[in-house]
Amino acid sequence: MISSLKQPASFSHGSHFITSRTNLVTPGCLPVLPSLRLPRISAVSLSKPLHIGAPPIERKRKELSTSIGCSAYEAGRSEPVADARSESARKIKIGIYFATWWSLNVVFNIYNKKVLNAYPYPWLTSTLSLAAGSLIMLVSWALRIAETPKTDLEFWKSLFPVAVAHTIGHVAATVSMSKVAVSFTHIIKSGEPAFSVLVSRFILGETFPPTVYLSLIPIIGGCGLSALTELNFNMIGFMGAMISNLAFVFRNIFSKKGMKGKSVSGMNYYACLSMLSLVILTPFAIAVEGPQMWAAGFQQALSDIGPQIVWWMAAQSVFYHLYNQVSYMSLDEISPLTFSIGNTMKRISVIVSSIIIFQTPVQPVNALGAAIAVLGTFLYSQAKK
Ligand code: 3PG
Repeated sequence: MISSLKQPASFSHGSHFITSRTNLVTPGCLPVLPSLRLPRISAVSLSKPLHIGAPPIERKRKELSTSIGCSAYEAGRSEPVADARSESARKIKIGIYFATWWSLNVVFNIYNKKVLNAYPYPWLTSTLSLAAGSLIMLVSWALRIAETPKTDLEFWKSLFPVAVAHTIGHVAATVSMSKVAVSFTHIIKSGEPAFSVLVSRFILGETFPPTVYLSLIPIIGGCGLSALTELNFNMIGFMGAMISNLAFVFRNIFSKKGMKGKSVSGMNYYACLSMLSLVILTPFAIAVEGPQMWAAGFQQALSDIGPQIVWWMAAQSVFYHLYNQVSYMSLDEISPLTFSIGNTMKRISVIVSSIIIFQTPVQPVNALGAAIAVLGTFLYSQAKK
């Protein structure tokens, strides 16, 4: 999606601002040719805003210094071994990021659904998720656990449309999960690339290779088959997931435009996004649900579930922030394409685990639709390479 914008393929890269045509000169080595292709921001990658931190460019430098220039001068005695070790270490690190991201996401989805089953106030639970993240980050900054970002009014202005889209996407997904099975919401959410391509094509005027359009057939077909055969289909749940997809596509477009040239790390970018979204969402949550409904519902949940409902709410809020934070941090380490594949795998782990934990009834044809949609998402990410 981001690459689909009619702008130079450039993006904020932590403290760097790079473009796909940047010439890199590796110290002590040969200059890197302009034909170097830095990771492109693919439509699937738009499931997260674009902010991406420093390491990938450093990694590219290292890879290039090893593969192009340095080997000629340094005769590569111990370097290949050292490089192989550092490459293995990097792979292990990315593996840990992925495992953490997926696990946190699975835990979030389980607690989120448990809360929504007992306390069906998605606007409040969405607000609490953002509030928990904001609080965690404010405390981290105050205690200097995390570096406080240097922001200005321009930063917050450019973040505003991103936060609006993030808020809509988040609330819509939570409303969806309050009405349908977690697995169904995520099956529909695996259709996000289709929204990305359609918005890029019809609103931004971008064109894609035929393989990209072809990959939409299994995505749309698979999601459609799942929706038609979903045993507990609910229109609000379905539309919530669809709106979430659309909102997240716009979030990523605004993110691309707004963050151009800005230098905020992935973790802090997400922290600021949470805070601004919290400010935007709170009045709407009060207007749509409001303290009276929340208080009455809470009494009911307390009598149905007991005091542990409070722990479930705390868990869903904290895990929401943690999985997002880790996913943004992993974006600092990997290319957008790898990220998008990781996000697809994440949906598989959420779909499968939630079906097992909540014993969601699934018809074989429904599962087939989900598998086709997920396969389509994978094919899409390959076609966007
Ligand atoms: C939300 O509540 O924001 C959604 O569950 C986000 O889902 P995703 O991060 O898997 O796209």
